[in-house]
Amino acid sequence: MTDYHTLAEAIYKRKSVRQYSDVSVEILESDDDLIETFEVRPLIPEIRVKVKIFRRSEIKNKRSPYLIAFYSEEKPMHLENIGFIGQQVVLELFSRGIGTCWWGLKKLKGEFKKHAGLHCIIAMSAGIPQDTTERVHPGDFPRKALKEIFYDSSPPPDTDGKKKEFENAVSPAVNDVIMEAVRVAPSAINYQPWFVLKIDDRYDFYLRPPKGLVERIMPDMRHIDIGIAMAHFMVQAQAEGLEVSFDFMGRDIRQGRHIAGIIAKLQWQMPIIIPPIPHFFT
Ligand SMILES: Cc1cc2nc3c(=O)[nH]c(=O)nc-3n(C[C@H](O)[C@H](O)[C@H](O)COP(=O)(O)O)c2cc1C
Repeated sequence: MTDYHTLAEAIYKRKSVRQYSDVSVEILESDDDLIETFEVRPLIPEIRVKVKIFRRSEIKNKRSPYLIAFYSEEKPMHLENIGFIGQQVVLELFSRGIGTCWWGLKKLKGEFKKHAGLHCIIAMSAGIPQDTTERVHPGDFPRKALKEIFYDSSPPPDTDGKKKEFENAVSPAVNDVIMEAVRVAPSAINYQPWFVLKIDDRYDFYLRPPKGLVERIMPDMRHIDIGIAMAHFMVQAQAEGLEVSFDFMGRDIRQGRHIAGIIAKLQWQMPIIIPPIPHFFT
């Protein structure tokens, strides 16, 4: 069973690893699919996804002893789904002392482009980090402030490229731990291309229009990024004892494209009923 408390801790300590020790890692030597090993929750269960691990000797890869490749059917929302699944794999591996770095620029070629009839969407490097320092403080994350990401009513932020703070930003006191988990989520070139509108226990995730040239020439990455942010939301909400469900029926607004609504509710609990003590005991 997934230990969401451990995964939530990993959210705040993890950082991308680009230098690895050349030691073998048992779990990465296995042919088992990490999605099954870790019982990873998908965003869209109908989309077939597989994970394959390559050792350095099997594939051209100077960066790391292992390369984890994510394969998927190409269907609506498959990129968000890969980000959502992949980030859970990242957190699981981190909690076992294994470092990773999403590697959007790595392109698998030839026979490695496909696996089990699925297309390679993205890969990540993996292995034991050379430097095992972890993040310890929110300030260690070079990220946008909460008020640039979360809003509790319309209108959402202007996305004209200028940094703005909004009066209707959600008070950080409300569910701030979940919002913080979304805030620190990694993204390609650290662009954080999402914003979230919050109304009661519903959080609508939007992709803002692409800003710079890099975002325009790598359109897929933005969709993977928002899936990663949603994974952080789900993990932290589960650790808080909230039940998370998704709703993809949103509508686009001028400033952004709706990706998913996430409803985070307290789980229903059996009320504890204490029967009256019979009077002959009193
Ligand atoms: C979808 C995605 C693709 C990425 N691609 C690359 C890459 O090609 N090369 C690289 O060095 N880092 C890559 N990164 C790592 C980001 O640069 C990194 O996550 C971001 O700067 C935040 O830093 P952190 O992960 O240490 O918190 C990628 C990250 C994501 C989420």
